[in-house]
Amino acid sequence: MSRSSRRRPLVAIAAALLSAALVAGDAFAQDRAPQRFGFGRAATAAEIKGWDIDVRADDGLGLPPGKGTVAAGEKLYQEQCASCHGEFGEGNGRWPELIGGEKTLRSEDPRKTVASFWPYAPGIFDYVRRTMPFAAPQSLSDDDTYSIVAYLLNINDLLPADATLDAAALKAIRMPNRDGFVQGDPRPDVPVGEPCMSKCRKEPPRITSDLAQRLGVTPDNRRQK
Ligand code: HEC
Repeated sequence: MSRSSRRRPLVAIAAALLSAALVAGDAFAQDRAPQRFGFGRAATAAEIKGWDIDVRADDGLGLPPGKGTVAAGEKLYQEQCASCHGEFGEGNGRWPELIGGEKTLRSEDPRKTVASFWPYAPGIFDYVRRTMPFAAPQSLSDDDTYSIVAYLLNINDLLPADATLDAAALKAIRMPNRDGFVQGDPRPDVPVGEPCMSKCRKEPPRITSDLAQRLGVTPDNRRQK
């Protein structure tokens, strides 16, 4: 059996799978999947709730009810975070530091920490609840997350030690780097003004290189014939 004839069934299977995937994609696009395939079911409200955990960084939309204190957060932080981030957020070894670094972002050695970098406090809640502790993401309860974020804000001198943090208090905090992010692209050769969102191309596209074709890393209709 030649190599190419052995390959042919595989190619046929791949083509069949691809066309099945395209049909499936089309069916989903038209919302006909259940009738066509007879499997799967609508996600339950509880399942959607489990996925729908995002908190919008700037205005805190989606922050859950609940609250926590700096004191409770300190205890949780020492148990679950300090091994990497240091007892006071100073960073352990090469693990990221969470304090300091103010006014270093434009320097040769920018240090991105909670106080030096994050523009909005609700984003810290979202990030911590979603991703930390590193080895057990999404294991923190909402109250525990409020407490830990309260401790993080406290060691960054943004919240007093006797404070209680809830959604309203978190939204009210103004982060030091709030105005440090610029809209748009600051490079001098990029045009300023509102970005174009539709019908932006004034001339038809022009091919400037056929390198990918010459390297054989892009489908080439001419060669397949
Ligand atoms: C096993 C080590 C480890 C542990 C434990 C850990 N983290 Fe992290 N943390 C990391 C690493 C690594 C990053 C950087 C992740 C990245 O950049 O993608 C990070 C990033 C962060 C950041 C963002 C840093 C920044 O740029 O400002 C915060 C905030 C944070 N962690 C908080 C926590 C909190 C709160 C806990 C405890 C609940 C925790 N971490 C536990 C390793 C850890």
